[in-house]
Amino acid sequence: MKQVKITLDKAYKVAKVDDRLFGSFIEHLGRAVYGGIYQPGHPTADKYGYRQDVVQLVRELQVPLIRYPGGNFVSNFFWEDSVGPVDKRPARLDLAWRSLEPNTFGLEEFYHWTKQVNAQIMMAVNLGTRGVADACNLLEYCNHPGGSKYSDLRRSHGVENPYNIKLWCLGNEMDGSWQLGSKTMDEYGRISQEAGKAMKLIDPSIELVSCGSSYREMPTFPQWEATTLEHNYDYVDYLSLHTYYGNAAMDSNDYLAKSDDMDDFIRTVVSVCDYVKAKKRSKKQINLSFDEWNVWFHASKEDADTTENHPWQKAPHLLEDHYTFEDALMVGLMMITLLKHADRVKIACLAQLVNVIAPIMTEENGIAWRQTIFYPFYHASCYGRGTVLQLAIDSPKHETSGHGSITDVEAVAVWNEEAEEVTVFAVNRNLEEDLPLTMDLRSFEGYELIGKTELVSDDLQTVNSAAGEKVHPRQADDAKAEGGQLETVLRKASWNVIRLGRK
Ligand code: AHR
Repeated sequence: MKQVKITLDKAYKVAKVDDRLFGSFIEHLGRAVYGGIYQPGHPTADKYGYRQDVVQLVRELQVPLIRYPGGNFVSNFFWEDSVGPVDKRPARLDLAWRSLEPNTFGLEEFYHWTKQVNAQIMMAVNLGTRGVADACNLLEYCNHPGGSKYSDLRRSHGVENPYNIKLWCLGNEMDGSWQLGSKTMDEYGRISQEAGKAMKLIDPSIELVSCGSSYREMPTFPQWEATTLEHNYDYVDYLSLHTYYGNAAMDSNDYLAKSDDMDDFIRTVVSVCDYVKAKKRSKKQINLSFDEWNVWFHASKEDADTTENHPWQKAPHLLEDHYTFEDALMVGLMMITLLKHADRVKIACLAQLVNVIAPIMTEENGIAWRQTIFYPFYHASCYGRGTVLQLAIDSPKHETSGHGSITDVEAVAVWNEEAEEVTVFAVNRNLEEDLPLTMDLRSFEGYELIGKTELVSDDLQTVNSAAGEKVHPRQADDAKAEGGQLETVLRKASWNVIRLGRK
């Protein structure tokens, strides 16, 4: 009979998980800001216009870091229009999404909102249609205490203390032909080198993210990574990766194999970083910022119609993917992949957070609700803090149409030494068979089962909606831990969270 064996040993540590691995992303796009996090007049809105039903759900996710304000939006962003007295801010044409940006919500409003959800800001600068001077001015506005043009401008806006934003993206997807002000690799290498140099002169305490390829299939990948890093290596700290998967082909078996591509993508980018490090005889290590990852494919046709035929709307319905149960499995698999690489992936942003390819959706005159993908991210964020352990997994395999033979089960374990708890996250991506699991707990003597939570559904295409959560985690009572062994069953097509703690 087919079965899975996992061996868990606290001696085999991969790395401590950086909390920023559970980051997310808010872009001025669609209804992420207007009608999402900010909707004055909504029954749950506070005096600043922040929807408290959304705040509540974001807090549940315990997101420590939020990337802002884009995305493609940032590449033609004029930050000066988004600060100061709201009634003096101009509306602008957002060329990235062909929408109208009213600028009634800007940096100041976002900063205060992040305080409500206990998150730090990961700020992006426009290296598309603007450049080094603009990036410096924004940083001076945000982080310099006072006594200079832009720090005093901030103070004149009533913000005495600097925002002190510590993490900055040097542009966004600059290799993409769709990007405003897109660049060749040498052009981006040079402008990011000069921007990085200048920004670290203003505030040496900041960390900088260099743009990697927009996705692995870009024709210039991985030469883009090598060339740009050769230019900016001394000034940057992280290299970005972006990936979205989808099941447009309606081949669920092969869809769930795509997390193997993500694994391969990470390994390749690590190799390129280390190649440039060796070439430069450098002692500095560049780590990875996977600052856009998710499933994205459902809403593409409607989006094209909106941007092409109905442009310049304020907060149009864009990228409003309604996620299925199988998308939740995919997000779980991607989360497992990120955790497995905790030694090099230090930052990751689920893209995005509200309404736009998001775990949280809002009804204009109604409630905020949780999509299917909310749950794997929520579980990982709640229980995935600690040290990732290298598992020995002996899993059966199955065939796929595009990825050959793949493992039925993907899993990762995180040991929270302080709380004396260990959590195993596992996806059974075999769509046909339940699999008995035996886990050898060897070095976890004295630990007992806290519980097993699973996400299952009879229909891979089930979705949640404002009317209710058809996909919702449930406690499973089929796990038992005894004599250093745990026995359970990983049901076909399931996301599992198995938690153990010291007695
Ligand atoms: O997250 C949606 C978009 O995807 C972002 O604006 C862009 O960076 C990426 O292509």
